[in-house]
Amino acid sequence: MTIIRHPGQCDVQKMFTVLNTNLDDYFAPDVINFFMMQWPKGQFIAVDLFGNVMGVLCGSRLDGSRASISLLAVDSRYRGHGIGSQLIEEFKRSCFMEGRSTVQLEVRTRNTRAISFYQRKGFAITEELPRFYSDGGDGYRMTMDLRRITSS
Ligand SMILES: CC(C)(COP(=O)(O)OP(=O)(O)OC[C@H]1O[C@@H](n2cnc3c(N)ncnc32)[C@H](O)[C@@H]1OP(=O)(O)O)[C@@H](O)C(=O)NCCC(=O)NCCS
Repeated sequence: MTIIRHPGQCDVQKMFTVLNTNLDDYFAPDVINFFMMQWPKGQFIAVDLFGNVMGVLCGSRLDGSRASISLLAVDSRYRGHGIGSQLIEEFKRSCFMEGRSTVQLEVRTRNTRAISFYQRKGFAITEELPRFYSDGGDGYRMTMDLRRITSS
């Protein structure tokens, strides 16, 4: 059973572990605390009945009516069971409740699995970001218009 909820302070260490074992870049615990402070309702974790954190989504508010999925990772042991999809759905709901109309994210061009996943969730590549990452890696910006989804 998967529970999607907002994280508390007691979850930070487990979020840290999931992010740093499943993403290419390193994120200090302070980064997670920053996200939680700036937008508590834009942060989600997927936990099992024992409190194990299986997936993490950290969102940010951007200017205008935009929001960003800044970090998303599902632990490799739990992928392909709908957890990433559920985290995105809950995040979209939070954005919609705040009147945000656009969700964007950045992804490495070589991360083809994540790119296809996002495309299937309704994101489209809207910008190429050469040398976007600190190691010189290229990225794409992908965007979803929530108004188009909610009005259809
Ligand atoms: C990208 C990522 C977040 C996706 O998470 P996930 O939990 O595996 O995603 P889901 O299970 O929701 O969806 C993956 C596929 O599993 C399928 N699936 C969904 N529910 C399922 C279920 N109950 N049983 C089996 N498969 C299922 C989905 O159909 C989906 O296929 P689709 O993309 O064709 O729709 C995950 O692969 C990941 O963490 N990757 C490493 C980190 C990363 O690249 N993050 C993005 C950086 S920008």
